Amino acid sequence: MSGDAPKLPLFDIRLADEDVEAVTEALRSGWLTMGPRTQRFEEEFAEHLGVRHAIAVTNGTAALHLAYLAAGIGPGDEVVVPAITFVATANAVRYCGAEPVPADVLGDHDLSLDPDDVRARLSSRTKAVCCMHYGGYAAPVGALRELCDEHGIVLIEDAAHAPASSAGDDARPLGTWGLAGAFSFFSNKVLGCGEGGLVATDDDAAAELVTRLRSHGMTSGTWDRHRGHSAGYDVVGLGFNYRMDEPRAALLTSRLSRLDEDVSARRRLVARYRERLSGLGGLTIPYPAESVEQSSCYVMPVMVERAELRDAVRRTMLEDFGVQTSVLYPALHEFSAYAGSAPGGLPRSERVARCELTLPLFPHMTDEQQDLAVEALASALERAA
Ligand SMILES: Cc1ncc(COP(=O)(O)O)c(C=O)c1O
Repeated sequence: MSGDAPKLPLFDIRLADEDVEAVTEALRSGWLTMGPRTQRFEEEFAEHLGVRHAIAVTNGTAALHLAYLAAGIGPGDEVVVPAITFVATANAVRYCGAEPVPADVLGDHDLSLDPDDVRARLSSRTKAVCCMHYGGYAAPVGALRELCDEHGIVLIEDAAHAPASSAGDDARPLGTWGLAGAFSFFSNKVLGCGEGGLVATDDDAAAELVTRLRSHGMTSGTWDRHRGHSAGYDVVGLGFNYRMDEPRAALLTSRLSRLDEDVSARRRLVARYRERLSGLGGLTIPYPAESVEQSSCYVMPVMVERAELRDAVRRTMLEDFGVQTSVLYPALHEFSAYAGSAPGGLPRSERVARCELTLPLFPHMTDEQQDLAVEALASALERAA
């Protein structure tokens, strides 16, 4: 099998004809970057979240960078981040000249940031906490927000996995619990366009800053000037080119109209995975069953209880069944670039990094494909034990 495309890939991206038409129409319009389609996408995504401001940017990493800058993070500051996340959550802290401080996750049953461990890592230099909603399952945002309020620091949400996800009895959307939420529209995400991102916030000052920093610190954009909304512009500080372009915005708007449908399909598949996997020994399925209905179900993580079996299980699944899996994520403090950032270690995160295995999941996955993944996992576990 090695070398060939897997029979069942981890993700399978399928666009509709209407998506392709929306992109074509954007290309034919002759206005290629930050114009009416970007604005429309921002308006529709703001409505989707119920926030005042949604600012589209180049990618999720840029969204994190700008969210951190909006939180006032700068040289000498610290930001507490989960050790189990994509490295961008931490790298973007360093873009600001600050240091990320990895904290432990809750454990095998919940792969998100542990508020008690966050508390233990706060210092006089801590300016913010950034939680990450793993797979679209809510991190304990209520507890984290209380903790941040108590210490006068800012909560940022890495909501890269979490469009169409919520927490609490009133189903408040993820990405709206702190000062700002950073979304990613990378190809394989729940809502993907290739490269794209967005900052969501209810805070007018944060929105203004993010909007300005997205385009070189300029006080108005080309589209504003084209429409006669402003004649010139000033540059009031250092900014970046983190602009989104029109074909991507058109693709995102087109796909956003089917997001609920896609997420419903994902939820059905995750519920079915949970049912089929519940009888398997040696496996823990993170998150309670009822949380599925509030999650985007971006990925399907399982924990192989005996860490020493995980890699053999993955190998058998790929080589003998053609089923691709992944590990989300290696622990941040175990990367060379972050060595020494968690003296004494973070035992629960290290365990997740060694035990976690992500199964294939995409909205149009068939029951037969899913049964193949389950069969592959069951056989591989049996053989490895
Ligand atoms: C948790 C998390 N944070 C941040 C990012 C960065 O997003 P992007 O790849 O769009 O820069 C990603 C996605 O790749 C992610 O999964």
